Amino acid sequence: MKTIIKMLCLSMVVILFACNGRDENKASGTDGWLKGDENQKLETIAKQLRGFDMAMVETGYRYQELYWAGKDENWEYASYQAEKIKVAIENGLERRPKRAESAQNFLNVALPEIDRAIASKDTAQFTQAFAALTANCLACHALEKVAYVTVKTPVERQSPVRK
Ligand code: HEC
Repeated sequence: MKTIIKMLCLSMVVILFACNGRDENKASGTDGWLKGDENQKLETIAKQLRGFDMAMVETGYRYQELYWAGKDENWEYASYQAEKIKVAIENGLERRPKRAESAQNFLNVALPEIDRAIASKDTAQFTQAFAALTANCLACHALEKVAYVTVKTPVERQSPVRK
């Protein structure tokens, strides 16, 4: 009899622990802002990560930084910005794969060209590659039906990063 009670108690404890460990509906994050089951939480995170727009807000900023870095002949900073543009766009395309095809020329031709110009530390070559890069921003905007986002060479510097 004693053994049976012991076994019963033990199995109750095991069940309790198992249930507790699998409480996937428990809210997560500060003040439990992530609610629902595991999938609902992932959906909320995906929504918060946003789509291609945020990749473009970041790209727009880095495009300006890249330009002024080139003007300053701050080649290390220019290289840093070119790399981050690549990361921003690739991550954006991972979230919105339907846009990937339109970005192929930008990623495979225009970005490597700006990389080469930066490595050459030649301002004239950089200016030329930057113009080609801009043309590729515009080409993708046309393909993706947002031609009204007209990107032009920056005229005023907003960045606090100067040489
Ligand atoms: C996939 C091809 C693609 C490439 C390459 C691309 N863009 Fe875009 N861009 C878009 C799309 C699509 C939008 C609109 C996003 C949306 O509707 O969610 C956009 C929007 C923008 C916006 C507006 C962002 C906002 O919401 O305020 C800016 C700024 C921008 N792009 C700058 C650039 C610059 C600068 C480059 C080149 C360095 C570039 N884009 C390259 C597709 C592209």
